[in-house]
Amino acid sequence: ATQLEGRHFLKELDFTAEEFRGLVDLAAELKAAKRAGAEVQRLRGKNIALIFEKTSTRTRCAFEVAAADQGASTTYLDPAASQLGHKESVKDTARVLGRMFDGIEYRGESQAAVEELAAYAGVPVFNGLTDDWHPTQMLADVLTMTEHTGKPPASTALAYLGDARFNMGNSYLVTGALLGMDVRIVAPRAYWPADDVVAAARRAARASGAAITLTDDVAQGVAGADFVATDVWVSMGEPKEVWDERIENLAPYSVTMDVLRATGNADVRFLHCLPAFHDLGTLIGRELHERHGLTALEVSDEVFESAHSVVFDQAENRMHTIKAVLVATIAGV
Ligand code: CP
Ligand code: NVA
Repeated sequence: ATQLEGRHFLKELDFTAEEFRGLVDLAAELKAAKRAGAEVQRLRGKNIALIFEKTSTRTRCAFEVAAADQGASTTYLDPAASQLGHKESVKDTARVLGRMFDGIEYRGESQAAVEELAAYAGVPVFNGLTDDWHPTQMLADVLTMTEHTGKPPASTALAYLGDARFNMGNSYLVTGALLGMDVRIVAPRAYWPADDVVAAARRAARASGAAITLTDDVAQGVAGADFVATDVWVSMGEPKEVWDERIENLAPYSVTMDVLRATGNADVRFLHCLPAFHDLGTLIGRELHERHGLTALEVSDEVFESAHSVVFDQAENRMHTIKAVLVATIAGV
């Protein structure tokens, strides 16, 4: 048992390494059970609210499928369809939804909002992404890494390239620190995580034995890595205008075949939480291509489509790991 009944899932460092690993192990069990047609429903009769103030494909679908598999129902609230933030405070919304639902997912800008929701809901609250953290993504990524190497996180080296000041960079740094990984942030200095995030990661690393590296040197940063990860250069909620400066600053950190070769590891795997700007066929991709003559943004199409890429395993694992969070916190599994 994970012993997490009644707990919120708001950010990685709220958990011990053992608790975090417990959720990943539970997800692996749930995945195997579903594949074997032997899933046991532990959330029958439960109801889960899904608040999305930012858009989503994976996170929303993962919560909905995980809940349905376990016998629970979901109610989806998008920014236009709820009173939250327009006519009603987070605090009141929390107290209303807490009377009807057994768990509440929240995706939006503000970490303070998801924490306030948790403080007043009286039921478990799950962070489906804020500007600061993406903790359910970390469960999926750790499960994916373990599946692909067969090694525990403490024996795994991960290099994250790109904009590391936002949810994904922050989350990789602290998750790596928590689990004792060799975790490298590879980005221009101005794109490193904030000082308080780095300090928290260093504290966690002292307890776990993790190795933390922040560097602007790609060759040094990726040498020997088991995994190379990246994320979009412009996140949800940022204005379109920042693309030009991001491209200028981050182009040397684009994950290309040369970067994978620089790891010196023929089996290196590529991670991306998705959505990714790899095939310049998307609207923004085409526009940037025309304006900057670029053939790749955060990752080249060649890397994305290569045998190194495990991005769709990650995407699938969002569902199994979110299911683990639901059954651990709501059903006490
Ligand atoms: N990786 C991820 O969170 O995807 P969505 O934004 O589609 O939920
Ligand atoms: N950093 C990205 C992650 C998307 C899953 C964003 O916040 O848009």
